[in-house]
Amino acid sequence: MQAKPRVLVARAVFPEVIARLSQHLEVYANQTDEVWSKAMLTQRLAGMQGVFTTGGDSIDQQVLAACPALKICANMAVGYNNFDLAAMTAAGVLATNAPDVLTETTADFGFALLMATARRITESEHYLRAGLWTKWSYDLFAGADIHGATLGILGMGRIGQGIARRGAHGFGMQVIYHNRSQLAPEVEAELRACYVSKAELLKRADHLVLVLPYSAASHHAIGAPELALMKPSATLINLARGGIVDDAALAQALQIKTIAAAGLDVFEGEPALHPNLLKIPNVVLTPHIASASIPTRLAMANLAADNLLAFFTGKAPLTPLNPEVLQGAGQSAAAPD
Ligand code: GLV
Repeated sequence: MQAKPRVLVARAVFPEVIARLSQHLEVYANQTDEVWSKAMLTQRLAGMQGVFTTGGDSIDQQVLAACPALKICANMAVGYNNFDLAAMTAAGVLATNAPDVLTETTADFGFALLMATARRITESEHYLRAGLWTKWSYDLFAGADIHGATLGILGMGRIGQGIARRGAHGFGMQVIYHNRSQLAPEVEAELRACYVSKAELLKRADHLVLVLPYSAASHHAIGAPELALMKPSATLINLARGGIVDDAALAQALQIKTIAAAGLDVFEGEPALHPNLLKIPNVVLTPHIASASIPTRLAMANLAADNLLAFFTGKAPLTPLNPEVLQGAGQSAAAPD
């Protein structure tokens, strides 16, 4: 009998997903959820044909060179800046991600974070819990309105469109966006979204939501010069990736009120945070949980697992990032080397 392909699951996931994988694969699971350094991950990947990764597990040229048996990396995230895709393609390693299944949940969270930020919900709760609430006042935690305001969206992929739809149809907002490419007119009409330059987006948005992918080109897309263009009353929401915002510049802008407030789900160097962000009240901070509803996280894990199972049973992976690798390799890699 042919040996089952060996697959490493780099972080803890739902036990039912491990059970599904184990029906067809020899699974090495990290169910104690130890966080491995790159060297530890590389060591554990030795002899593995596949790996189930999350957004914090880096697969680069160094890892690939040390793990020649590796054929597929399935990411349980839509973002894949933890993959060096060019190096993976050059090494003939298939990469997959987990798009679509998280779109609506993440767009919901974008709104939750926007509303908490604009309406100062966490700041006011901290005040209340600290026993500081002694009387009603006309301006106690008065913030910005959402309804009727101008919603700016930077990056207009699936999640950006979900946020635009909620803003335009649910809250009567004027939606403006900037993206690498303009949407088709019928999509813009359905979303009631208007394409503008990045400078106009920064100047006009009452609430600016970032949902663009992270790459060298988007590194510090929002830094001190961009923040300076925004309204002093504006809020900034980062749902995308740490590194898109210059967190040091943002902390400074929040402190001196260049903008009114920010809501951040992602951070440069997370899980570490820029220390100044922890010192200022006008920022809502959440630990990278935009896609974290139970059904959605399960769907993301199942999609990553489905990609592995399809690949190792000779079927077409569902969401390949570099499908050219499959053509080159005649698709299947059912048998271990
Ligand atoms: C979450 O950040 C994802 O990319 O899925």
